[in-house]
Amino acid sequence: MARIWAVVPAAGRGTRFGGELPKQYLVVDGLPLIAHTLAALFAHDAVEGAVVPVSENDPDWPCWTEFAGKPVHACTGGASRAASVLAGLRALPDDVRADDFVLVHDAARPNLSLTDLSQLLERGRNDPVGAILAAPVRDTLKRAGDDGGIDGTEARERLWRAFTPQLFRRLQLTRALESATTDGVEVTDEAMAMERLGLRPLLVEGSESNFKITTPADLARFAYERAQRDC
Ligand code: C5P
Repeated sequence: MARIWAVVPAAGRGTRFGGELPKQYLVVDGLPLIAHTLAALFAHDAVEGAVVPVSENDPDWPCWTEFAGKPVHACTGGASRAASVLAGLRALPDDVRADDFVLVHDAARPNLSLTDLSQLLERGRNDPVGAILAAPVRDTLKRAGDDGGIDGTEARERLWRAFTPQLFRRLQLTRALESATTDGVEVTDEAMAMERLGLRPLLVEGSESNFKITTPADLARFAYERAQRDC
């Protein structure tokens, strides 16, 4: 059976959040967010280890070589999320084969449930391309004009919001990200790189609780949801 490793890009400097500390190192319950994220991924027995791309000479990276009994390898990330993921794919142990699976998951998305992760792995491993967690758009979508007025209403049918983790095979994902880089296309998730090659990853519906920490309100929500879960 194909093996599964995680790549957890953590080389962003979190400028949208504000503050000195990149958001993946903000502390909740005595642990940095990246620890919560790794714990969520490693909660699944099939996930063997993780590569974490961090920014160059990152002073905040805790220099783990293992976490929860599983191996963790850090590498230097890149200027974009895609470049960081590509660096992570290249830093995977040599014995992770071309057809083995890689689970790419944002360091700043610590609230992933084991139920969602299990669903993604079950469905994605049986798909020839791979799969991503996502949720259907439920709000009405407006297109804004330059003046802030509404130019129109967009159809929301069949529109989904892409989350992570995203599950793909090591070689296919590497080729897809290399192709986007060569063509100068900035992909905002791994699925987009695959789609550019005409491939169609599967959408697996996941919980809205698997949100990315982007604002201080998101951080407070994570702390609250975690406390609710534990009591
Ligand atoms: O900035 P954004 O929230 O989209 O970043 C998503 C994830 O990608 C974060 O975990 C961030 O640390 C990571 N990232 C990265 N390298 C970059 C930019 C973002 O690893 N150059």
